[in-house]
Amino acid sequence: MPKAIEIENFSYGYPDDTVALSDITLSVEHGQRLALIGPNGAGKSTLLLAMAGFVKGTGKVLIEGLQISRKNLKKVRTTIGSCLENPDDQLFMPRLFDDVAFGPLNMGLEAEQVKLRVANALQTVGLTELSDKAPHHLSAGQKRAAAIATILSMAPKIITLDEPDGSLDPRNRNNLIKLLGSLPQTLIIATCDMNFAAALADRAVLLDKGRIIADGDAKKIMSDSKLMSEHGLEVPHKMK
Ligand SMILES: Nc1ncnc2c1ncn2[C@@H]1O[C@H](COP(=O)(O)OP(=O)(O)OP(=O)(O)O)[C@@H](O)[C@H]1O
Ligand SMILES: [Mg+2]
Repeated sequence: MPKAIEIENFSYGYPDDTVALSDITLSVEHGQRLALIGPNGAGKSTLLLAMAGFVKGTGKVLIEGLQISRKNLKKVRTTIGSCLENPDDQLFMPRLFDDVAFGPLNMGLEAEQVKLRVANALQTVGLTELSDKAPHHLSAGQKRAAAIATILSMAPKIITLDEPDGSLDPRNRNNLIKLLGSLPQTLIIATCDMNFAAALADRAVLLDKGRIIADGDAKKIMSDSKLMSEHGLEVPHKMK
């Protein structure tokens, strides 16, 4: 069976010549929960974008054995769902219901199936009662949850989340940890918050300046105080 994600010697520079990723080689097994950690500007968001073909560099990116190309982008994005860094980039319909229905409708599902998917996704993230609300009127934390629902409704096998813990109060952060911890999907979670990462991940990949610095057991990497401080991060409270 092919790996969930296979990245080989991938490099990417933005049009203004910023080298965001250099020679990334990484493979992710099905069911793994991987924390992508690193300081601001390390390349975390860019790597998540590359995993779903939103940026195209040199080298290979394979999703379930399928190398991403322009032709198979639609299929790739039904396998890997990306929760973007800014939830506003994912919410653009007049009603929350329509945003969560957008993916399943696009996949060609029947109206009844779509309704069921939306109801389940909204219930999972605790937003059932806000189904008719305008997404741009949601609070920042509710927008995070809504963006996650737009991905869950497509039932992808792999989910990437870019700083999903941003703007959440402690209760909702804990709820999000519980929610993500209960999902059967392969998860790749980018965050600079080591406490959040430690609560969820079994594996950590440390990125800095576009390169992989460390890759391995989450506890081992995050409890290494020298490594953490060298890269602008901190050891999670529970590991101190
Ligand atoms: N659209 C863009 N155009 C040019 N450079 C960019 C663009 N987006 C990101 N970069 C640059 O690419 C590098 C990696 O950025 P990226 O957003 O991937 O980092 P990050 O690890 O997600 O950081 P953060 O923790 O701040 O979200 C940075 O040097 C950044 O300035
Ligand atoms: Mg980022």
